[in-house]
Amino acid sequence: MSSSLTKKFFLLEGKTKKIFSTENPNKIILHYKDELSALNGLKKEFLQKKGILNNEISSFLFKKMNYYGINTHFIRKINNREQLCHKVNMIPLEFVIRNIITGSMSKRLGIKKGTIPSNTIFEIFYKNDALMDPFINIHHAVFICDVSYEELNIIHQITLNINNFLKKLFLDKNIILVDFKIEFGKNKKNKILLSDEISPDTCRLWDKKTNKKLDKDVFRNNSHKNILDIYMEVLKRLNVPNNN
Ligand code: TMP
Repeated sequence: MSSSLTKKFFLLEGKTKKIFSTENPNKIILHYKDELSALNGLKKEFLQKKGILNNEISSFLFKKMNYYGINTHFIRKINNREQLCHKVNMIPLEFVIRNIITGSMSKRLGIKKGTIPSNTIFEIFYKNDALMDPFINIHHAVFICDVSYEELNIIHQITLNINNFLKKLFLDKNIILVDFKIEFGKNKKNKILLSDEISPDTCRLWDKKTNKKLDKDVFRNNSHKNILDIYMEVLKRLNVPNNN
């Protein structure tokens, strides 16, 4: 019975979240911290309530995706900072979709920021802080990680599906989904589940009319000062009730 599960042991801590075990070995509790981190952790800031906003936004999006038929680790939001999730073995890869070129792809390939590609760009990065999360291809991924060519193909299809779903969801709120990063894990039956989070920390979101940035780029490029207001604006536009 998932409704009575509580935090048992601390398992691990990332830059923005902590993970706890529960009484059920197949379920974990994800706790959102008030940390804002960018540039591979080189830029860090404590920002009260930021974890609450990301938990609200990510819970809302994962619940919608579960309902839409995308397999995710998300079970339910427990409280303003915590989610109950299926336990997975994380694949140490970051998958990025780009609908508009900016960020690292613009720099790496010398493409003008704001260019709209004729195809949907799908990229893979190896999650490794010491190596600064390098850009890799599918052959590197199969060699480095516990993932097959077939699984990467499935992940590509799921990622395109997520992009179509999220693009429309955000556009209905006058927000353009410029790009985003997602991560996957495998449950004990080796089923691939969308995991981690989707929030303004992990997406580029631009206002449809003004191109105003509604995401972590504001912190990457400038300061943290109005980040909470921006994340709150995303929450409000998604019509998520914020009870905190
Ligand atoms: P990039 O242009 O810096 O490669 O970022 C592409 C997208 O991935 C953007 O929406 C931000 C997101 N992202 C993360 O969520 N975590 C990361 O560590 C990086 C590098 C990017």
